[in-house]
Amino acid sequence: MERSRPSITPRAGPCFASSYRSPKTMSAAPRNAYQRILELTPRVEEIMGRLKEPMDAELPTIADRFYLRIERHPEALAVFRGGREQLVRQRIALAGWLSELFVPPYDESYTEKRIRVGIVHLNSGVDEHLMIGAMNWLREELIGALRRITLPEGLHFGETAAALQKVLDFDLGIILSSYWTDLRSRTRNIDRLALIGQFSAAINHELRNPLGVIGTSTYLLKSKLAADASEDVKNHLAKIERSVARANAIVSGLMRLLKVEEPARDSVDLESFLESVIEEVPHPPGVTIELIPGAVTGRAAFDQDQVRQAVSNLIRNATEALGEQGRIEVRFASDSIATSISVSDNGPGIPQATLNRIFEPLFTTKSFGTGLGLTLSKAIVEAHGGELKARCGRVGCTFEIRLPHFLIGRPTIPRTQTSS
Ligand code: HEM
Repeated sequence: MERSRPSITPRAGPCFASSYRSPKTMSAAPRNAYQRILELTPRVEEIMGRLKEPMDAELPTIADRFYLRIERHPEALAVFRGGREQLVRQRIALAGWLSELFVPPYDESYTEKRIRVGIVHLNSGVDEHLMIGAMNWLREELIGALRRITLPEGLHFGETAAALQKVLDFDLGIILSSYWTDLRSRTRNIDRLALIGQFSAAINHELRNPLGVIGTSTYLLKSKLAADASEDVKNHLAKIERSVARANAIVSGLMRLLKVEEPARDSVDLESFLESVIEEVPHPPGVTIELIPGAVTGRAAFDQDQVRQAVSNLIRNATEALGEQGRIEVRFASDSIATSISVSDNGPGIPQATLNRIFEPLFTTKSFGTGLGLTLSKAIVEAHGGELKARCGRVGCTFEIRLPHFLIGRPTIPRTQTSS
């Protein structure tokens, strides 16, 4: 329904005072496909910019009403594990978000600022349908406010409401794109793990027996030849034994990779957990491993056994890179999205070409490694919905694990069945 425009006494000078910029300066930015499809034209930007001043006064009330709706919605309320304090924080953030709706242009830098909102909600476990529903609450409230305010001169309710709807659609698209990106990367992971699963099951089935035969025959040969064997023969037998052990370790590693299960999350005290992981990793006397106390101490929710394996792989990897001498620092921190645990060493860095491949299964630069430790660490972190990243300079590398705080109702990576 078109709202009749109240009579306005024209103001002297510019009829609006806000951070709105003229369409001439705004339309210079190239428009992306979404902006074109949604017809986010310079006129839409002009209307939205002119609405900023009259709408700003309405936004705290809209945020309050939104917050009351969340409180009445059990599924939405369940997401706020930080209680009332967290709800209040979200209300303030929402008022800021609403205000920026009226600050065109809707260009790349606008999109970049808004994309964080999708990521925060994804990581907080807010279902995407809840986000669509919540956007509809905001639509109703904003359109209601449009009816209440005195529209700037020359603006009509119909065109103004349509401009607002387009910008809300644009923002909803930005939020949902985080959900789609996440889904795509999960699907890729599931495909990759399924493939590894098929290979591992086949390798386990086909290789365990011949490896067992080689191992037993070598042992028998050794005991039969006993003292009569020449040094050369003994060397060759020892080589066969080492190779069989390595091949067995690879098969076992693949099976472990296959068995990364849905994490059983526990509340874990980070500092004592990391101290205990460090204690368990053997290292030469010339290598020091230090836990650097973080600015934040506290607890995090993850599967202790799995993350222990992931972190201890990273520390082991660092000790192997250092050789006999060097220093490893383990740090932890927490922000509004995730807990991070990092392992840094001052050994030789890793060249970029190698760095690009270090998480690939069976990729190794060590003569004794299986090339599965880092792949397993990554699989564990990803099963928690997190990420594992490596940064290396000319000296030293840092591996950082990020584990999102909450993951409620998120899809999990199914375990591939195996015959082992
Ligand atoms: C379209 C609707 C929504 C908008 C525009 C919105 C906006 C925001 C903004 C701007 C933030 C701050 C992000 C940051 O840290 O940079 C935020 C945080 C948050 N929102 Fe929303 N929100 C919406 C819907 C919801 C819903 C439906 C829920 C719950 C079911 C929710 C739960 C949260 C939580 C848990 C946080 C993190 C609060 C914290 O800092 O601890 N939001 N939201």
